[in-house]
Amino acid sequence: MSLKEAISAVKSGDRIVTGHAAGEPIVLVEELVRQKDRLENAEIVHMVPMGKCEYCQVEGLEKHIRHNSIFAGGPSRKAISRNRADYTPVFFSDVPRLFKEGILPVDAAFIQVSPPDEDGNCSYGVSVDYTKAAAESAKLVIAEVNRQCPRTYDSFINVADIDYIVETDRPVVELQPPKITELEEKIGANVASLIKDGSNLQLGIGAIPDAVLSFLKDKKDLGIHTEMFSDGVVDLYAEGVITNKYNNLHPGKFTATFLMGTKKLYDFVDNNPDINMQPVDYTNNIMVAGRVERLAAINSAIQVDLFGQVCADTMGYRQFSGVGGQVDFVRAASVSQGGKSIIAMPSTAKSGTISRIALTLTEGACVTTSRNDVHYVVTEYGIANLRGKTVRQRARELIGIAHPDFREELEKQACEAII
Ligand code: COA
Repeated sequence: MSLKEAISAVKSGDRIVTGHAAGEPIVLVEELVRQKDRLENAEIVHMVPMGKCEYCQVEGLEKHIRHNSIFAGGPSRKAISRNRADYTPVFFSDVPRLFKEGILPVDAAFIQVSPPDEDGNCSYGVSVDYTKAAAESAKLVIAEVNRQCPRTYDSFINVADIDYIVETDRPVVELQPPKITELEEKIGANVASLIKDGSNLQLGIGAIPDAVLSFLKDKKDLGIHTEMFSDGVVDLYAEGVITNKYNNLHPGKFTATFLMGTKKLYDFVDNNPDINMQPVDYTNNIMVAGRVERLAAINSAIQVDLFGQVCADTMGYRQFSGVGGQVDFVRAASVSQGGKSIIAMPSTAKSGTISRIALTLTEGACVTTSRNDVHYVVTEYGIANLRGKTVRQRARELIGIAHPDFREELEKQACEAII
C-alpha cells in the first residue's frame, strides 16, 4: 500500500512505538511527520533516534507528535530539557513488559523488517529488542519491508500479523566506527588485561568498547552475549578470536538484541545461521545472561564518585542518554560464574578540565549503577578493583586512577569526608 495511505490509519492521541536505532523505519516516521497537521497529542516512543527526529527539532511540532524517550540521543536531549519531549527511566530488559502488560499500551507499531521468505516470515533484522514486543502488543502494525534489511535469525513476524506493508529499497542506517585515539587505546589495553580466554563479552556503545576489541587480538575463543554489537566484532571473528566455543548458553552463536554498524556488519549477519537475535527481555534478562559463564560486561560512564556510584545517563539534572542495558549486564556479570563487570571511561571530560572521578556525583545526577554492583572501574591510568572493598579503600583505589592533575584535590576532599 502507499505510504500515505498506511500512515493515514494513525489517529490523534495514538501512542506509536517505532523500531530502534538502525531498525528505525525512517520512511514511516517521516510520513507521520508530514501528516502532523491532522494529528493532535500523538506520542512517539523509541530509544536511540537515528533518523531526523523532527518532532524534537522543530518547535511547536510536539503539540501534534510528542516524543517519549526511553534513551535520549543527540536530537532528543535538548527537546527533553526544554519540555518539548519526555524521558521515561526504565531498564532496557523491562521495556517489552511496559508494552506487553499494557503499562504503556501501544496503538501503532512502526517496524522495519526484511522481505518475507516463502512462508511469509519477515525477519526483524537489526532491531528485535522491544520492537517485537511492540508489534505483538499493538492494535495496528505498519511495516516498512526494506529489501536491504538483513535477514537475521531467530526473530520473525509473519505477514499475516502485519496490517499495512510499505515496500522500500534503501540502505539501512549506518554508524561509522568511532575514532580511536591514544587515550581510548590506553583504556582499551587496561580493560583487555582483565579479559581471559574463553570469556563471553557484552559490549556497550561508544569508542571504548571498540578500542577494547582491538586489544583482544591475542585472546582465544571469545564469545558474544550482548545487547548490541558492531563492526569490531566482525573483524575479531574473521581473525579467529571470536569462536563462541565456550558460550555455554548458545554455543557457536552470537547472541544480541540489536545491531548498529556499517554495511560490513549488515552483510555479515544477513542469512547467517550463527546470529541469534532475540528480544531484549531475553538477552538482557539477568536470569538468562547471568547463566552465561565468564560474562564480561564492558560499559562506560559519565562520572563515578568516590563511593563507587556510577552515573552513566545524566549530566547533572540533564538527561544525556539512558540506562539502556548497563545495569542488566552489570548485574548479570555479578551472578555469572567467573563473570566480571567493568566500567571504563576516560579520567577527565571537557578537554581535561573536569575529573570524571569526583567526591560525590554532580547535583541532580542520577545513579545508574549502584556502588554495590560495581567491580572494576578502568581509566587510562589503571584499574580500580572495588569488589569487597571498604568505603575508604574504594576512595583510595579510585583516586589512584584519577587524572594526576586532580588527585591532590580529591585526596583533600576524601580526607575531610571519607578517609
Ligand atoms: N562532566 C561534563 N561533561 C562530561 C562528563 C562530565 N562528567 N562526562 C562526559 N562529558 C562530556 C564529554 O566531554 C563529551 O563532550 P565533548 O564531546 O564535548 O567532549 C560528552 O559528554 C560525551 O561523553 P563521552 O564519554 O565521550 O560519551 P560516550 O559517547 O563515550 O558515551 C556514555 C558514554 C556513558 C554516555 C554512554 O556509554 C551511555 O549512554 N551509557 C549508558 C547506557 C549504557 O551503558 N548502555 C550499555 C549497553 S549499550
